[in-house]
Amino acid sequence: MADVRFLTDRVKLEGRRAFTFSIWGDVPVYGERYYETEGGTWREWNPSRSKLAAYLLKGGTIFPFAERNSVLYLGVAQGTTASHISDICVGGQIYGVEISPEAIRKFTALSTVRRNLYPILADAARPESYADLLPPKVEIIYQDIAQKNQVDILLKNSSLFLKKDGLAYLMLKARSVDVTAPADRIYSSRIVLLRLYLR
Ligand SMILES: C[S@@+](CC[C@H](N)C(=O)[O-])C[C@H]1O[C@@H](n2cnc3c(N)ncnc32)[C@H](O)[C@@H]1O
Repeated sequence: MADVRFLTDRVKLEGRRAFTFSIWGDVPVYGERYYETEGGTWREWNPSRSKLAAYLLKGGTIFPFAERNSVLYLGVAQGTTASHISDICVGGQIYGVEISPEAIRKFTALSTVRRNLYPILADAARPESYADLLPPKVEIIYQDIAQKNQVDILLKNSSLFLKKDGLAYLMLKARSVDVTAPADRIYSSRIVLLRLYLR
């Protein structure tokens, strides 16, 4: 049997699989499976569909998500990853910013069941346009928007909305920054940029 490791009481890793604890019913969000156990129901978190699950299953250890956290999620799309954050931050708020009207429509439908999700149709490059919809500061910013100016967008949002000791995730897509340059060169240049600004 695979080793079971709990990251919080709502996230468990079992061998090469990840799960979040389900409290919002048992309707799949993206075709994922639910498992009944004596202690409750768990939802499988698919690493091929969610970079955060892939990060954890690859051994990523930085994971501050807690029950009452507020999270600003840039590029929330239909809410695949956000639905798992919604399982984890049950008593918090997840503000999902998305530029595609079609995607935000699906995310809005999800938010009627998962009451800690808040949809925002906006361009994450213009954070002033949604500042009124957010609390003054959030604990976590998660950014997954696959745009050339991803780093700038993250920095702008962090300087406005991230708490002093907060944490920002950047899911950087090298091919969106530059289609031809070697991926490792793109990653190191963006890390240098982040270090410069975050000093
Ligand atoms: C890779 S998908 C996000 C997948 C999602 N994070 C998940 O794991 O469930 C990128 C999303 O970013 C959105 N996006 C791209 N540019 C954006 C912008 N400037 N502001 C807000 N959303 C943007 C796209 O419409 C798309 O839905």
